[in-house]
Formats: sequence, C-alpha cells, structure tokens
Amino acid sequence: MENRSQWGTRLGFLLAAMGSAIGLGNIWRFPATAFENGGGAFFLPYLFALLTAGIPLLILEYTIGHKYRGSAPKSYSKISKGMEWIGWWQVAVSFVISTYYPIIIAWAIMYSYFSFGQQWGSDATGFFVADYLQLADPGTFGSMVPMVLFPLLAVWLIVFFFLGRGVKKGIEVANKIFIPTLVVIFLIIVVRALTLPGALLGLDAFFKPDWSMIADGSVWVAAYGQIFFSLSIAFAIMITYASYLPKKSDITNNAFITGFANSSFELLAGIGVFATLGFLASQSNEAVSEVVAGGVGLAFMVFPEIISQMPMAGLFGFLFFASLVLAGLSSMISISETYVAAVQEKFNVSRGKAVAFGGGLAAVLSLFFANQGGLNLLDTVDRFINSYGVALSGLFQVVAIAWFAKGLKDFQSHADSVSDIKLGLWWRVCLGIITPVVLGYMMLQNLRSELLENYGGYPIEYLFNFGWVVAIGAMFVGALFTLKKWPSNKADEKSDSE
Ligand code: PHE
Repeated sequence: MENRSQWGTRLGFLLAAMGSAIGLGNIWRFPATAFENGGGAFFLPYLFALLTAGIPLLILEYTIGHKYRGSAPKSYSKISKGMEWIGWWQVAVSFVISTYYPIIIAWAIMYSYFSFGQQWGSDATGFFVADYLQLADPGTFGSMVPMVLFPLLAVWLIVFFFLGRGVKKGIEVANKIFIPTLVVIFLIIVVRALTLPGALLGLDAFFKPDWSMIADGSVWVAAYGQIFFSLSIAFAIMITYASYLPKKSDITNNAFITGFANSSFELLAGIGVFATLGFLASQSNEAVSEVVAGGVGLAFMVFPEIISQMPMAGLFGFLFFASLVLAGLSSMISISETYVAAVQEKFNVSRGKAVAFGGGLAAVLSLFFANQGGLNLLDTVDRFINSYGVALSGLFQVVAIAWFAKGLKDFQSHADSVSDIKLGLWWRVCLGIITPVVLGYMMLQNLRSELLENYGGYPIEYLFNFGWVVAIGAMFVGALFTLKKWPSNKADEKSDSE
C-alpha cells in the first residue's frame, strides 16, 4: 500500500516545481547575465543549454524521484549504495543555501515597506549598505540588525507553517497562492515599465545581439550556469518534489512545461528589468550599459534609485519587492523540503519533527547572516556553495548515473512508460556526454578564476574560512549522514502518511 504524501493535482505539482525554479535567479540574475554575454545573441547558447542540459536533467531528476519515491538520498541509495552520498551532499548544499536565502527575502520584505516613503532618500546605495545593513568589514560580524532579524523571523514562520502542513495542504497550497499572484504582479510591473519614457532604449540594449561573443567559451558556461541555477537542478529539490507524484504522471511532458515556463518568466523579467533600466538611463543621460547591474546591486541599489524617479513610486516599489518576496518564498520552501524529506525518512520521524529540527537548525544558523557582516558572508558562501556544491555535485550526479550506476537506459524506459513524449538517443547523449563535458569545463574555469584572483577582493583567509570550508564541509557532512542505516521499510511507511 502506498502511504507516501502526494500532490493533490497535476497543476499543484507543476506550480510547485515552477515555484522552485522561478526565483531570484530569474528576476535579478538572468537579465544582467544575458546582457553581459551577448544580449540577443545570448539566446542561442541559452536555448541550447535549456534543450541539451536543463530539460534533459529535469527529466532525469523527475524520473529518479518518481521511480524511487524518496528524498534525494533515499532515491539515490536505491540506484546504488555508493550514490547515497551524492544525495546527502546535495541536501547539505540546499541546507546551506536555506540559511542565507531567507535573508534576501527578509530584505525584500523591508524594502516593500520602505518603498512607500522611499526611505532610501537620494543615496540608495549608501542607505542600503550603511543605514540599513550597517555593513561591517569582512570578517567582523558586529551586532544583529533588528530590521533584518524581524522580517527574517517572519520568513521562517511562513516556511515552517507551509512545510509543517505537508505536501498537499502546505507546499501545494503555498504555490497555488504565490505563483499566480507573482505572475499577475509581474505582468503589472512589466506593463508599467514598458510605458516609461526610455523603455525602448533599455530593450534595445537588452536584445541587441553581439554575435562576436558567441565563440567565447565563457558565454556558453554562463548560459549553462544560468540554466542549472534557474531550474533548481542538482539541489535535490526536483527529485524530492517528483517523489510525491502519483504513479501515473507524465514525466517528460511535465519537465518540458516546467522548463519552458521558467524560461518564459526569465524572458519576461529581462524585458521588465531592461525597460526600467532604460528609463533610468534616459533620465540620467547615461548609456544603458552604465546602469546595468545584477543581483543584490540591481534589487537594492539600482531599483530603489529608479523607483524614486517614477510616478506612483510607492506602488511600483511595493510590487517589485513583493515579487521578489513571492518568488523567493516558493524557492525557499522547495530548498527546505529537501532536508525535511530526507531527515524524515532516514531518522524515521514525523514531518513535524523533521521541520522542527532541520528548519530550526537552519533558522538558528541564518542568524549569522542577520548581523552587520551578513552581506559579505552571504556573497562568499553563495559563490562557493554554487560553484563547488551545486555544479560539482551535478557533475558527480550525471557521471555516476550515466557511466557507473544503472546507466541511462533504465531511466529512459521508466520515463517512457508513463510519458507521451518518448525519449531517444538524444537524451542519453545530452546527459552522458554533453552535460558532463560542459560541467567539467565549468569546474576548470571556476577553479582557474579562484587561482587568478581572490573572489570579490576578499582576504584569502576569509575566503578559506567561509567559502572553501563551507563548500567542502557540505561534502563531508553529506558523507556522515550515509553512515546511519535506513529504517526498515515497514516503519518507513508508517511515518509517511498525510
Ligand atoms: N531556481 C531558483 C532561482 O532561479 C534558484 C534556487 C532555487 C536556488 C532553490 C536555491 C534554491 O532563483
């Protein structure tokens, strides 16, 4: 008898998977990445990466979760004993991310409030760094920042609430509320942005192709990097979510829908962001290229500055930061579910306990980012955990499965048995050859840049303590969890009814 929690509807699963995929990466990472890597010409490598790695990997992860019906460590352990470690490693990586990701959501909550009075005044950057975050030098942590701490607690309460209620009544409900709301809000933002003076200037800069960059390997690495991050691949997330699919679910179709929905949102974000940047450029008589930013800088430094110059600034600002909050929350719920599911299964405890222990520990650790050293720490941990956690474990994952464990054919026949679209040789070539080659090359590039210069200009000791130790630590912690035995099947089923 099957006792495992399940999604209530197909749409519920799709919205949850999209909710995980659509995150800060779509809104603040994609637009700048595309612009810096050839503008309109970037769409070629981007689409190539989506079709040769993004969707094929998504199909693989959905198949693994669907076939083995377990969290990432459990599913991998059923593929082969040795692979369990990769699952825990990915869970550990997601755990680390879940300690700093909510901080950004917390900032966005405060900023949606700040928007109404444009609290940042005429110096948005100075306000963010000095007044709001009270940023200290790297390595010093200083005191807690209450205006980060309180919204952070609110984020955790929301996450605990939905995770505690389970898959169907919690995660699915959250995404059914958050994702449609996000899409509506974002469409309003885009329409408003497109009607600002200078919007076309921005779009022109965004879409103008620079074909000369297409031969540059780093552009292709950027495209693959964006696709991996944006589709939440190799985070243990999609395996976990797919493990709650009913037996008869079309895997391949779901993967294509998730992949295209995510990219559509990404494109929409690119249009909205660049239309807005075009407005700023035309107001300040600068070239668009001079005002382009990504990440924290775009959201908390450049956008506030733009918002102040707009008619109905408060409303636009509120909507923009609310969209970050919604996109962030649905991704945050998905990362946290990876360890909730894994702990629940390995230690044979209830969902409530797994949420309390796993989420509780992550919440406590997130306090490290809520003090005056938070921004630098976040920046460093993020960079290293992504390069040597997500990308590297993704490489281990495909190589182990395609070359050493069962081989891809086994997964192909499982996916084909439930899906309308049948997989072919193309799928095995993408995963067995193209993806490993690209990820391997990406790894070498990352390592090379680490050797050439200190990331972000941080002192080497700082990078060692908070970058390398954290990233390599995740591998070791993952290995530790494999030492414990799985509970017997019977007990396992008992713990998992909803
Ligand atoms: N896919 C998310 C995004 O685009 C990234 C992400 C999801 C990162 C979940 C961590 C955890 O922002």
